[in-house]
Parts: sequence; C-alpha cells; structure tokens
Amino acid sequence: MVKQGKTIKKIGISTGGGDCPGLNAVIRAAVYTAINTYGWEVIGILDSFNGLIYPDQIKPLTISDVKDIHYKGGTIIGTTNKGNPFKWEKKKPDGSVEIVDYSDRVMENFEHLGLDALIVIGGDGTQKIALQFFEKGMPVVGVPKTIDNDLNATDVTFGFNSAVRTATEVLDKLRSTAESHHRVMVVEMMGRHSGWIALHSGIAGSAHVILIPEIEFDIEKVAKFLKDRAEKGDKYSIVVVAEGAIPKGGEMSAVGRSADGTVHLGGIGHKVGKALENLTGLETRVMVVGHIQRGGSPTEFDRILASRYGEASVHLVANGDFGKMVALRGTAIKAVPIQEAIGETKKVYPSGTLVKVARSLGICFGDE
Ligand code: F6P
Repeated sequence: MVKQGKTIKKIGISTGGGDCPGLNAVIRAAVYTAINTYGWEVIGILDSFNGLIYPDQIKPLTISDVKDIHYKGGTIIGTTNKGNPFKWEKKKPDGSVEIVDYSDRVMENFEHLGLDALIVIGGDGTQKIALQFFEKGMPVVGVPKTIDNDLNATDVTFGFNSAVRTATEVLDKLRSTAESHHRVMVVEMMGRHSGWIALHSGIAGSAHVILIPEIEFDIEKVAKFLKDRAEKGDKYSIVVVAEGAIPKGGEMSAVGRSADGTVHLGGIGHKVGKALENLTGLETRVMVVGHIQRGGSPTEFDRILASRYGEASVHLVANGDFGKMVALRGTAIKAVPIQEAIGETKKVYPSGTLVKVARSLGICFGDE
C-alpha cells in the first residue's frame, strides 16, 4: 500500500478513447477492491483526462454508485477520443483552434484533488497519454480496452469479444435476407488498422469473403470468386470488409482526419459493394455495422475479463507498480510496462492459424 514512501488513501479512475462494453465492469471491480480490500476513497475523473483540465469534473465512486453496473454498456464516468492534454484543441472566440499544452494543469489538478494514483482504462491513444503523465511524475496504472483488440502487450482487450458477438449476430441476421433475395451483402466492420473483428466475426458468422488490412485484396479476384459461386448455384454471398482493408495498389479509405492527425476510417464497404456489383452484375447491398459494435451489454467473457483487470489494477496501485498495465497472458493476469503496450499495433498474422482455418473453410481473402 506504499507509493514512494506514501500511503495510498485516494485514487482516481478514468476511461478514455472510444467506449466499449465492459468499461463499467472494470470500474465496479476496481471500486469494490479499492474500498473493500484497502479502504481507499475512489473518484471517477469525468470524460478521460478532460476531467483534470477543468475543476470539479469528478464523480465520487462508492459501492452504491457502482453496484449492478457490470452489465451496462458505455461508461458511467464518460469518455472522449479527442482530448489529449498535451495537444489540447482550444477553441478561440473567433472559432479558430489553437493547440495548447495543458499537461501541467492536469498535474496540478491531480495534486489539488489529493489523488495518490490514477487508473487509466483505455486503448492505444489513451495509454500513450497515460505514459506521458507517468513520465511527468503521475503514478498511473493502465487497463487495456478496445473493441479493436489491437493492443500489443495483452492477448485480448476487453470489449473485443462483445464486438465480435454483435458483428456475428449482424451476419446471422443478414444471411436470411441475402439468401431470400439472392444478393451479395457487403458488411463493413470496425477495427481500425487491424482485422480482428472482421476475421473473428467472419469465421463465426460464416462469411464467404473476408477482407482485412493485413492482406491486400484484389477486387477482380473477389469478383471472380463471387461469380464462380453464383455459377455453381450458390445464390447469395456475404462479404465482410474491415474498415481498414486495403485494395491492391490502393490505400485505406478515410472519411476525415482530426486536428491531432487521427484518421477516421470508413467508406471501403460502399466502394467494394459498388465495384463488385459492376464487375459481377450480381445485385449487391452494403451495410456499415458501425457503432453498435461498441454498444450494449458486455458478453460474459468480457464481464469476467473486465472484472479481473479492474481488481488486478488496484493491486498494482497497492504494490506501487506504476507505469504498468494489466494484461492477459494465456490464462494469467500480468503487469507489463505501458511502453510495451503502445509500441506496436497488434495485427492479424496473415499466415496464422485463424487465417488458415478460414481458408480451409473456403473463405476468400481476395489475394489468391
Ligand atoms: O477504436 C475503436 C473504434 O470504434 C474503431 O474501430 C473506429 O475506427 C473508431 O473507434 C471510431 O471512432 P469514432 O467513435 O470517433 O467514430
């Protein structure tokens, strides 16, 4: 319970980046452990680090505040995927935006609140910010979150399993309408630069084609595959496209870019759908699954993983294990340096087992 010779009495919890199912289950487990095991006071910092930029953006978290929130989607303390205090987009009265560094202000508010540590629940971007604050002297512990499952130091992030469940349910529902109308259904899934959601849901939902960022696809090959299917009497096809999928000789499809340079992916589903309809003459419809992959109640797997992460993160604080993140390695929860988690995006391995299984099931990746 000692941090740099200091006894822990009060900790903060924040949730940053895109929300995902399981955030509330982490918060609940962390609050229960902090209060029941260590007798600490816990406060929620509202809307990620934003809550430390402006005063009083906090919410006390007692047992009754977090009771029964384990199955609720979203986060009871809010989140944002825009607020980086080191590169804050300050709006000026004339409407223009100035980039300012508010990190000292965050450090001051952290002290002012009497916090001894901060548990930061977030993905790649949020953990990068957490590490910068750790380097400035803030005692932080990370918890890996994202539906994209693209954080390197952990086998799985919570939220991924729930997103795959939703994506698979979508495919199950689309199958009957695709079959009835003898159509090609192109379904765009989230995942940023990694194809995990597309690959897992594509196998679970038995897609005929899966296009992922890690395997460049040739649209002509996909079209031929679909025409061959139609000629053999398979009257419908399901094509799953990850939002970051890359056509041969082309690039990722983006719909915009934030002031901090973050690319907003999207649009590939419609491009692929149009091209396939032109090339095959088969009637095609496109569905962008979008943010429902981030919504709703977490699966049992995610509730358990989130609870394990929440509990373990509090023990890391108690042990003074700062600058570290909880991670799932095999079946065990370990502490890994945050640096390790943010170094590199975790990608689907094109020659890995899952891609092999998919190919054995006759799924086309548009490359052969
Ligand atoms: O990182 C999670 C994620 O849902 C990505 O899969 C997606 O590209 C992005 O966030 C969407 O962000 P926003 O909520 O800003 O549209």
